[in-house]
Amino acid sequence: MLGAGDLVMLAIGAVIGAGIFGAIGTAAAGQIGPNGEVIRVGAGPALVFSFLLLGAACALAGLCYAELASMIPQAGSAYAYSYATLGEIVAWIIGWDLILEYAVGNVAVAISWGDYFTTLLRGLDIVLPQWLTTGYRTALLSSDPAIHGLLASAPRLLGIPILINIPAFGIVMLITWLLLQGARESTTANNIMVGIKLVVLTLFVVVGAFHINPANYHPFAPNGFTGIHQGAAIVFFAYIGFDAISTAAEETKNPQRNLPIGILGGLAICTVIYIIIGFVLTGMVPYRQLAVADPLARALQLAGLTTVGWIVALGAAISMAAVLLVFQYGQPRIFFSMARDGLLPKWAAKVHPVHRTPYVTTLLTGVLVALASSVGDAAETYDLTNIGTLFAFMLVCIGVLVLRHKEPDRPRPFRVPFVWPVTLLGAAGCLFIMKGLPRSAWERFGWWLVIGLVLYFSYGIRHSKLRIGNRQSAVGGRQ
Ligand code: ALA
Repeated sequence: MLGAGDLVMLAIGAVIGAGIFGAIGTAAAGQIGPNGEVIRVGAGPALVFSFLLLGAACALAGLCYAELASMIPQAGSAYAYSYATLGEIVAWIIGWDLILEYAVGNVAVAISWGDYFTTLLRGLDIVLPQWLTTGYRTALLSSDPAIHGLLASAPRLLGIPILINIPAFGIVMLITWLLLQGARESTTANNIMVGIKLVVLTLFVVVGAFHINPANYHPFAPNGFTGIHQGAAIVFFAYIGFDAISTAAEETKNPQRNLPIGILGGLAICTVIYIIIGFVLTGMVPYRQLAVADPLARALQLAGLTTVGWIVALGAAISMAAVLLVFQYGQPRIFFSMARDGLLPKWAAKVHPVHRTPYVTTLLTGVLVALASSVGDAAETYDLTNIGTLFAFMLVCIGVLVLRHKEPDRPRPFRVPFVWPVTLLGAAGCLFIMKGLPRSAWERFGWWLVIGLVLYFSYGIRHSKLRIGNRQSAVGGRQ
């Protein structure tokens, strides 16, 4: 059985990854489109307030997750809890949405992994051609002439520029292969990963602190609250994954005490780490120069600390590979639950006779994520992941309140304290952070929901086991 300390380690293991190693740069610096249009303004050094805002909103949502997870005697994601309690269509929307958190999120992690891997190779004097390390969308959306210019300078096939992020593609295929062999992260492996993350981040802070130039803190909040808000909306990615620990509810000793300590403790520790990293990073380099793919390694290199930069890049690559493993492991299992309930075709619930893995969905997820990573853009993918995850968090917060009224007597090993303010503020906080995302993210998310609903009404609704079961019992009742 897991104690509060184990939960804190699980939380740190799942969350520290591309968000703090990659997205933090865009959050601090802002983002300019290829035609000079402002996509978002940066938080600058005030990024530390973005982290505080996120920590608070995630704590509220985390408590709600914990109640749902502890109520439903089944390990699984928010999809499984909502299917059992909130009805099929809400569950479908959440499940469809979780694809954004898991699979699309992993596209972003893989791209960031590729960026750090390229930095590592460069440190070894191995320089790959840029058209083999840059996705097509990244070149298309970049305001950096050297990257945007790849559209014209890359080799062409049938007139189309070949821009493929081979490292991102490769790491996803490697992880997929490991998962097909039955690999999963054990508690020991997780603890080792947490150790590596903490060591490299501490190294960054300790060494970086000596290279802070106080002038970089003026102005502290160059874009006021708008910068803090828009920065929070992208760096929210750094918090994704803490919800995964609520899925350990069944295996937790004394969940009423340990779950909130685990969730809130894990979030508090990550928030403190993020604030310190944000403070040191924006003190080392003028915030505008942080709009790069590997901001932590870059800041150290700019300070002349090439070797430390390389070590941090190595730690980042290892940490992100672990995050990839956790999410590539999770996604097929969500597909599996959805297929078992009849909302996806039966073949998606096939289990390998020897390895006992959902191999069809593992392979399918792997190939799709690898292909998307090879052409995708990190910022665009962070945005889509964040909006989808925040929406799922919001539904979970509201779901807790609905269930307290629908099923007040159902046993709840963990109950959210102060349920009205916590659920309502949690949902409002998520919506508020979503509002900090660019319009393009909202449009894409709208399309994603439309496609999901079309699939549900054309397939899921007719094949759902719940409905077929209900129809059969209605027929049985008349006989
Ligand atoms: N929070 C995870 C990361 O930053 C998804 O990589």
